[in-house]
Amino acid sequence: MTEAGQYISDDERRQVIDGLLAAQARVSPKYFYDLAGSRLFDVITLLDEYYPTVTERGILQRHAADVAAAFRSAAGDCALLVEPGAGSCEKVRFLLPVLRPAQYLALDVSVEFVEQALESLRRDFPQVPMKAQAADIAQAAPWPVPEVEGARLFFYPGSSIGNFTPDEAQALLARIHAQCLGQGGLLIGVDLVKDTAVLHAAYNDALGVTAAFNLNLLRHLNRLIGSDFRAEQWEHHAFYNEPASRIEMHLRAREALTVRWPCPAGGTSTLASERHFAAGDTLHTENSYKYTQADFEALLRRAGFAQVQRWTDARDYFGVFLATA
Ligand SMILES: C[S@@+](CC[C@H](N)C(=O)[O-])C[C@H]1O[C@@H](n2cnc3c(N)ncnc32)[C@H](O)[C@@H]1O
Repeated sequence: MTEAGQYISDDERRQVIDGLLAAQARVSPKYFYDLAGSRLFDVITLLDEYYPTVTERGILQRHAADVAAAFRSAAGDCALLVEPGAGSCEKVRFLLPVLRPAQYLALDVSVEFVEQALESLRRDFPQVPMKAQAADIAQAAPWPVPEVEGARLFFYPGSSIGNFTPDEAQALLARIHAQCLGQGGLLIGVDLVKDTAVLHAAYNDALGVTAAFNLNLLRHLNRLIGSDFRAEQWEHHAFYNEPASRIEMHLRAREALTVRWPCPAGGTSTLASERHFAAGDTLHTENSYKYTQADFEALLRRAGFAQVQRWTDARDYFGVFLATA
């Protein structure tokens, strides 16, 4: 156990170490989110440069009633609202009064943080039974979603879908489509392609909060796998990879260094237990793909959704898509 509620299995430990040993060292962005990482992300959402949260909130605030009406006419009353990667559960506040789901389930790897968020959500919406559940939605295993009679709506805001490659995203959307069981849908927020300077600023804020969020991953890894990363030897590096249509976030070694960790599973593994980084080498921590509206709609259709409606902001910075099964 590493922090309240967090465990790592031997398999997961091996996956992390495989990533550290890859030619381009990499780590899953889910490891940003220990309790400190979840709180740092919340601060990012308050920054002037970080347009996604404020823009998506604006769209939901303006159109929540239209979304609820569109969902009701396509699928009926909402028996279950499921939010994967729920985090602070802030955006669901726009939906609860108009959608009036019979129950709400928040899924997240950082479940302690979500439990705290639910305390105030329960006070504000006492009529909606709600629960937080630990789940890694990137795994192929079925999500711990209860059986219900009636329509399910999956709510996946924050453009977290952009952390997956387009092929992985399509597979994840297809898994959500399958879990709609023919009666339900997905409401998803997606960051759209835009001017590179705007994108660059959003991931390189002047206060350095995104840098702290990125570096905090090293502390989290140290607790999870017993590695000896030293944050002061690394720096935040984020840029827009235009051909791939994605922001890439890395940690870059400020100097030549070696990171060590104990052998997994009692030292019987053939995996190495250290990695050397030359000055300037990087550890790739996150991709954040940006889509055009047409490309994202096509992705939803390839994942199996028959009907798609969308809402955007005046600048077309962000899209909220309602896809029904
Ligand atoms: C960028 S934050 C978005 C939070 C919130 N949905 C929003 O829109 O503001 C991503 C959230 O997804 C969670 N998360 C990241 N990877 C995950 C995974 N593989 N499985 C479940 N939750 C994950 C994080 O803990 C975090 O709460």
